[in-house]
Amino acid sequence: MKLKQALNIDDLRTMAKRKLPRMVFDYIDGGADDEVTLRESVRRFDDYQLTWRALRDVTKIDTSTSIMGQQTKLPFFISPTASTRLFHPAEGELAMARAAEAREVIYSCSTLASQTVEDIADATSGPKWVQIYVWKDKEIVRNFLARAKEAGFTGCILTVDLPVGGNRERDPRNRFSVPPKPNFSLARQVATKPGWAWDLMRSPKIKPANFSHMRKQGDQGGVVGFVNQQFSRAVTWSDVEWMREFWGPGFAIKGISRAEDAKRAIDIGADAVWVSNHGGRQLDTSVPTIDLLPEIVDAVRGRADIIADGGVRRGSHVAKLLMRGATGVALGRASLYGLGAGGQPGVERALKIIEDEFLRTMALLGATRISELDPELMRGPASR
Ligand code: FNR
Ligand code: LAC
Repeated sequence: MKLKQALNIDDLRTMAKRKLPRMVFDYIDGGADDEVTLRESVRRFDDYQLTWRALRDVTKIDTSTSIMGQQTKLPFFISPTASTRLFHPAEGELAMARAAEAREVIYSCSTLASQTVEDIADATSGPKWVQIYVWKDKEIVRNFLARAKEAGFTGCILTVDLPVGGNRERDPRNRFSVPPKPNFSLARQVATKPGWAWDLMRSPKIKPANFSHMRKQGDQGGVVGFVNQQFSRAVTWSDVEWMREFWGPGFAIKGISRAEDAKRAIDIGADAVWVSNHGGRQLDTSVPTIDLLPEIVDAVRGRADIIADGGVRRGSHVAKLLMRGATGVALGRASLYGLGAGGQPGVERALKIIEDEFLRTMALLGATRISELDPELMRGPASR
């Protein structure tokens, strides 16, 4: 199948599955425990039903908006994802960032990126944000943020739904690790994926590139070992206050699921509250984002932007999250399936599919600008 023939994100997922070794595909595709949140986050969008305003002139549709101070042509953007070179060993984050620039969406880069913030900044002049976790060593975080700022990243995302790693059972079952370790299981899985294996052999070892200057890092258990050394279970709100001050405006807190935490995020100066369950990869049976939005909107009362993610596979899903009060919508797997299916052109295809679907949804709703995505057009499960 050619990229052009992919009609939707699910087609790109099928293509990525064919190209990637199972352990790599499953790392993208999988979730925690019984994967209830993962499945339910996609399915839940179907429970929200639409009405439309008929006979409106929809020849011109303006999808532009502003997310956390960034003017943008589209209300969706690329969410941070770790070790992106796993899914495309030659380019990884660079392919993702270049595709974002080509399709005019914001790119966000994970702390655990497999390319440095400097290399990413060299590859793209598009708008870009950087994500961090709260680590034991403040100095490491401070240096990393200073480097990202210097490189031209304008937004900072603090992820708070990962005090410990979620239980993703596909990974140990596939004997998956970052970087992939040569073992029988890997050999068997890559035997039928020579393209990926060839790219992997020709490119540098996959590791958290932004921290490779640090002693011993990468030697002890790869990315997971590094994360376990650095992640602190003891972090609380008072430990993160300094970050907003250090970074300045353009600071989001990602992984919020409760109104009281949205308020706390605003108290420490967050410019955006990011409602997310990490794509169902952390606490299983957590509530799909679309259901949580109204209570977060009530708590935020216009004092910050609201970003939402989780399960977005269609342009109509983006529209539904905006109708429930989100200011911007982040795409995780949708763009990763594109990357796995065909590198930078694959990500561009994914972004184009979502854009076309979003535009078509707006036209069918009779909405010509984002502010016309009126909540009244949608009925939630309770009101049917
Ligand atoms: C993620 N996500 C993530 N989030 C984050 O803040 N830092 C990270 O390093 C990662 N890494 C990561 C890797 C992979 C393979 C996936 C699929 C996801 C979570 C991501 O930013 C986003 O919240 C979810 O992916 C959204 O759900 P969907 O769109 O994938 O359903
Ligand atoms: C993940 C982490 C690394 O979801 O954020 O895989």
